[in-house]
Amino acid sequence: MSQHLPAFPDTKADWFQQISNNLSPDQLLWLSGYSYGLAVAKQPVQIPPPFESKTESIASSAPLHLLNAAPSAAAAVVPLTILYGSHTGNSKKIAHRAAEHARKHGLKPLVHDMSEYPVKNLKQEKNLLLVVSTHGEGDPPIAAEDVYAHLHSQRAPKLPETSFSVLALGDKSYLHFCKTGADFDAQLEKLGANRLHPRVDCDVDFDDDAEAWIEASINAILNTSAASSLASNANGHANGTITAFAPTAFATTNGHAATNGYAAQYSKKNPFPVPLLEKIQLNGRGSVKETYHLEFSLEDSGLVYEPGDSLGVIAENSPGLVEEVLNAAKLSGDALASETSLAKFLTQNVELTVLTRETLTKHNEFAQSSDLAAILADTNRLKSYLYGNDVADLLRAFPHQHTADSFASILRKLPPRLYSIASSLAEHENEVHLTVSAVRYKTQARQKEGLASCFLADRVGVEGAVKVFVERNEGFKLPQNPATDIIMIGPGTGVAPFRAFVEERSNAGATGKNWLFFGNPNFTTDFLYQTEWQQWLKKGVLNKLNVAFSRDQAEKIYVQHKLLANSKDIFGWLENGASFYVCGDKNRMAHDVEAALTQIVQQESGTSPEKATEYVKSLKKQRRYLEDVY
Ligand SMILES: Cc1cc2nc3c(=O)[nH]c(=O)nc-3n(C[C@H](O)[C@H](O)[C@H](O)COP(=O)(O)OP(=O)(O)OC[C@H]3O[C@@H](n4cnc5c(N)ncnc54)[C@H](O)[C@@H]3O)c2cc1C
Ligand SMILES: Cc1cc2nc3c(=O)[nH]c(=O)nc-3n(C[C@H](O)[C@H](O)[C@H](O)COP(=O)(O)O)c2cc1C
Repeated sequence: MSQHLPAFPDTKADWFQQISNNLSPDQLLWLSGYSYGLAVAKQPVQIPPPFESKTESIASSAPLHLLNAAPSAAAAVVPLTILYGSHTGNSKKIAHRAAEHARKHGLKPLVHDMSEYPVKNLKQEKNLLLVVSTHGEGDPPIAAEDVYAHLHSQRAPKLPETSFSVLALGDKSYLHFCKTGADFDAQLEKLGANRLHPRVDCDVDFDDDAEAWIEASINAILNTSAASSLASNANGHANGTITAFAPTAFATTNGHAATNGYAAQYSKKNPFPVPLLEKIQLNGRGSVKETYHLEFSLEDSGLVYEPGDSLGVIAENSPGLVEEVLNAAKLSGDALASETSLAKFLTQNVELTVLTRETLTKHNEFAQSSDLAAILADTNRLKSYLYGNDVADLLRAFPHQHTADSFASILRKLPPRLYSIASSLAEHENEVHLTVSAVRYKTQARQKEGLASCFLADRVGVEGAVKVFVERNEGFKLPQNPATDIIMIGPGTGVAPFRAFVEERSNAGATGKNWLFFGNPNFTTDFLYQTEWQQWLKKGVLNKLNVAFSRDQAEKIYVQHKLLANSKDIFGWLENGASFYVCGDKNRMAHDVEAALTQIVQQESGTSPEKATEYVKSLKKQRRYLEDVY
C-alpha cells in the first residue's frame, strides 16, 4: 500500500501509520479511494486513480469497493430528492438549479413537482430538499396542496431517517411571508426529520439567497454522507455501497459559476433598458380609471417571452416622495448611506411607497413605541396599517431620529413590479406591450402615487427607457393543444394577457375557440382595446365576447354575473375540455369568479355543492383553471 502513498515527509508517514494501525485492509483500500476523491475535487484534472495507473474511468474495471471510492460513481448512491411546489415556476427553476449543482458534485438527484409526487414515498427519503412558494393569503400553491395536507394530517409518516432543508419563496409585502415554507419546515421537524441546513426565506429578489441555500444544503448532504460513510467503514461495515466524498472541496468548486450558467444575458439581476416606443391612455375623458398601453422595443435585448409571462419593471421613487421622506426623517439628502448619497439611495435602492412588517419591526427596535408594538401584535390592525401608509407616514407617526445608516437599515430593498405581457411576439416582432393602471390615492392628507405604475404613467416618455426583465410564468400558459377551447376572464388590466393569447392563437392558426369576458366601470370610457376585440370578432378569431360595465346601470354588473348568465354554455365548454383563465384583481374578483363557476357546475350538472367544489378544484389540479391574479 505504501507504494501508492504520496511521498510524505517522514513525520506525516509516521502519523498515517499511527492512525491507520487499526484499520483492516478493506478499510485501507476504501480510504485510498476516499483520498482520491478529495484529490480530484481539489484539482479536477486527470489524476490517475489508485491501483489503475492508466485508467480514464475507474468505473470500467476497478473492483467494486474501489468503484465506491471514486467521487462520481460513489456519490451516485447518496439518495437525494428535490421537491418543488410552484405556481409561476420560480421554485421549479431553483429546484432544477439545485439538481444541477448536486450533479456537479457527483450526486444523482431526483427532482419532483409536488403535484406529481407519490406522498407515500416520503418516508423512504434520506435526503430531501424542498423548495416551495406561498400564494393566496399564506396558502400553499395548488401544486403543493396534497403533499402539504398529507404532512399535516393524521396519516403523516414519521420521518426519523430523513434529512431535509427547506427554501421558502415569498414576498415581504404579504402579511404571511413565506408561510408555506415555514409550515413545511416546522412539520418536517415535528415528524422527526433531521434539519440539514436552516430554512431560508426569500423575498422577491431571491437569486442570491437561493444560491447560498443550494450550496450550503448540498454541502451539508455531502458532509453528512461522507461522515456516515467513514463512520460505518471504521466500524467494519463496508458493504460495497458506501460512498466517499471530498465534501468541502466539492462544494466550493465552481459552485457559483455552475449555477449561474443558466442565466440569460439579461435577467432580473441584469435588467435591460428597453426604449419606450409608444404610450397611449386607454380610458376616455371623465373615466374614474387611468390605464396606459405601453409599447417597448426589445431590439438588441435578446429578451423573448411567451403569452402568459410577465415583464418585471425596475422603477425609481419619485423626487417628490424622496423629499417627503427626507423631511419626515429629518435627514439631509447629502448624507451618506451605503456609500452613496441618501437621496440617491432612497430614489433607487429601497421601497418607500409600501411598508412591510419587517420595516415596522426594525423601525420599532429604534423607536420603541408601544403603539407601534400594539399594531405589530395584532394582525388585523397591522394589515390595515400597511394598506395606504408609506415610509414618511411611519416616521411621522412613530418618530425616531435615525442616522442615515440606521434609516437605511430598516428599509426594504426595492423590488421590481410585474406586469402581465399584453402582446405576442408572433404579432409584434421584437416588441413587448403592457396595460398599466396608474395607482393614485389620498391618505394622511397626502396625494400618493404607486411606485411603478406612476413611474410608467408620469415619468417615462417616448425615447426614455425602462429597465426590464422577463418573468416566466409557467402557471399561466395557453393549452398545448391548439384545438382546445379557452375561456378568458379579464376585467380591468386583467385583460392584458388575453390580448397576447388571442394574438398568439390567431398567428398560430389555433382551431380552439376563444371566449372573453371583460369588465370595467363604463362602456364609453373604459372598454380597453375595444376596436381590437371587434376586429378579432369579425375575423372569427374571438368567438364570443361578453362585457360587464358595472356602472352603466343602477345595479352593479360584474364579470361573474355575465358568467352566470351564460351558465349552460360555460359548462358545455368545460365538459368539452376547455381551459378557464382568470386574470386581474385577486382580492374580490378572483374569489367571486370561482364562486360563480362552482355555482354553474352545481346548477348545470345537478350535483351537490361539495361535488361542484371538487370539480373546480380538479380543474385547477389539471391546470385547466389557471389564474394570474394580483
Ligand atoms: C403577476 C402580476 C401581473 C400583474 N399585471 C399587471 C398588469 O397587467 N397591469 C397592472 O396595472 N398591474 C399589474 N400587476 C400589479 C403591479 O405589479 C403593481 O402591483 C401595481 O401596478 C401597483 O404597483 P405600484 O408600484 O404602482 O404601486 P405601489 O407603490 O406598490 O403601491 C401600492 C400600495 O399603495 C397602497 N394603495 C393603493 N391603492 C390604495 C388606495 N386606494 N387606498 C389606500 N392605499 C392604497 C397600498 O398600500 C398598496 O400596497 C401585476 C402584478 C402581478 C404580481
Ligand atoms: C396572488 C399572489 C399571492 C401571493 N401570496 C403570498 C403570500 O401570502 N406570502 C408570501 O410570502 N408570498 C406571496 N406571494 C409571492 C410568491 O410566493 C412569490 O412570487 C414566489 O416567488 C412565487 O414562486 P413560484 O413561482 O414558485 O410560485 C404571492 C404572489 C401572488 C402572485
